[in-house]
Parts: sequence; C-alpha cells; structure tokens
Amino acid sequence: MENFLIGKDATLNLRMGITFSNDQAPEEVQPTSAKDGQSLIDQVIAATGPKAHPRLAQIMPSLVRHLHDFAREVNLTVPEWKAAVDMLNECGQISNDRRNETQLLCDILGLESLVDEITSNLLASSNAGTPSAVLGPFYRHNAPLLPNGSSIVKNLTPETPWFSQAIADSAYITGRVLSTDGRPIPGAIVDTWLAAPNGLYEQQDESQTDMNLRGRFKTDQDGRFAFYALRPTSYPIPFDGPAGRFLTLLDRNPNRPGHIHFVVSAPRHRALTTQIFDSRDKYLTEDAVFAVKDELVVKFLPHKGDSKARWYLEYDFVLSRED
Ligand code: BEZ
Ligand code: FE
Repeated sequence: MENFLIGKDATLNLRMGITFSNDQAPEEVQPTSAKDGQSLIDQVIAATGPKAHPRLAQIMPSLVRHLHDFAREVNLTVPEWKAAVDMLNECGQISNDRRNETQLLCDILGLESLVDEITSNLLASSNAGTPSAVLGPFYRHNAPLLPNGSSIVKNLTPETPWFSQAIADSAYITGRVLSTDGRPIPGAIVDTWLAAPNGLYEQQDESQTDMNLRGRFKTDQDGRFAFYALRPTSYPIPFDGPAGRFLTLLDRNPNRPGHIHFVVSAPRHRALTTQIFDSRDKYLTEDAVFAVKDELVVKFLPHKGDSKARWYLEYDFVLSRED
C-alpha cells in the first residue's frame, strides 16, 4: 500500500482515499525542462526495429512523446508512478467475464467515448446516421428474440421491491429503422437492454430473472419495432473497485443519467451501438462516462388508453450503408 506526497502536507493513497484536507493546496509544479528529457524520448523511439508491427511503429512515437511530456510536465515521482502501476494491476486482477475494470477506468477518463467517436467518424460514409454511444460492460449476447409489441419487463409482481416505480415508469417504445436515404429497413434487429429501477442490470442482481429488461426485436415491413419497457433510471457505475476509488479521489459524481442501450443491425448497413437518454434526468450534464449527445436525448410523452404503459416514446434509428 503506497502513501506519497502530492503537495504540501497532502498524502494521497489510491487504496484508502485522500487523507488531507482541501485547504492544503498542492505546491506549484516546476516542470522538468523538455531539453532534459528529449534525448531519452529519442532513444526510446529509435529503439523500435525495422520489423515492428506497422500500426505500432506508426503510433508509438506519439504515445512515447505524450507520456514523457506528461511525466515531465507534472514532475511525476517514483511513488506516484508506482501507485498508478498498482492501480492498473488491480484493475486487471478484479476483472473477469462479468466485469471489466480497465474498460471502466477508460470510461471515466472519457477514452471509450472518444475512440467510439473516432471509429464511427472513420467508418461512416456520411454523418446522416444516428450518433453512436459506448457499448458499456453490461451487454449480453443472445437476448430473447421477441415479437413486436411484447414486454421486456419479466416477472414484475407487487412483491418486486421496485414495483410501484416500474408501474409509474411503464413505457411503450416504438420507432423505425431507416437507411440514410430515408427508406425503412424491414428485418433489422433492434437489440435493447436497460437497468432496473434499483439501478442494477439483471446480471448484477440475483433478485432479477435471467435476461430481465433485455430483448431483440425484428422490424416489420415498414421498418417498425415496438416493445414495452420502462423509462430508464440513473445509476452509479460499479464503485467497489479501483475505478470507484479513483472517482472518490477526484471528488467526482459516479452516476450515469438514465439511458436505454441499443445495438441496431441490418444487412448491408453498419451496425449502430448507441444509447438514448431520458430528458428528465438530473445527471444529463454530468454523465460519469461522458456518453451523452444532444441528438440522443429523448422526451417520453404521457400515454393514454393503454393499461400496460403510462409513457410513450417514438424514436427512429438511422443506419449508414456499408461501402
Ligand atoms: C453502461 O451504460 O452500462 C456503462 C457504460 C460505461 C461504464 C459503465 C457502465
Ligand atoms: Fe448502461
């Protein structure tokens, strides 16, 4: 366990939390001069051999430059670097097929959102499609393929702890899957999942039925899908590991605004991974993983005359064609 000084009387401990008061400001850092580090950067870059993997040979000089510049700029010390190495090691140790802590760390640094944006810009032939958003760690393959008009809320009874919220937030969600030329796409698959009103996905919560709040729907001849679900609830990202401790050290909000995930796919079109965000949510402007985009914020409308839903949402997904 590593304690080290980050400033005047300020002890930072990535395992246990900050043990100093906020009025003790860190001392101003005088960066080590670029001249001192330049020959080391050059040596590291020059060490790459002629048979290096081409993409690595292309990108590593930039990574080395940025890493060294960062360390010099903040005067990174050995104990600080060691604490970061320990944190990355712990992220790996805590990860398994149900949990990916290193991905979560990237998420809270905005890195997954950034690479998602870069990738969809590189792949898209135009920007006329629905914007993408990160997949996140809770996707499951093979959600049940359900008929349009059915519900993804399973085994909801008055004994369910979040029964009344589920009734109050019951929603009918429908829309079309369109190509960027405006034509509907029949036979597209709309794969959707969301957290329950207690803020937990079914695989995080033994009290929920397997595959609760997940389903896949095939669009009809008009490109339309429809299902019953719930208005989404905000929830904190997994907080019991190094990523959560890091958020605490940064005095950051751990919550994601209420959202519904989608992967929409169709032949000859690029699959779209995205999320829609409920306009009522108080965390819309402070998503812990920086995934909110204006075009993905939706407004649920009151729904009358349907005993199965109090809210209604119509949302079309637009897929760009594969080149
Ligand atoms: C999610 O929305 O499921 C999620 C995305 C990134 C990090 C944690 C959770
Ligand atoms: Fe989510």
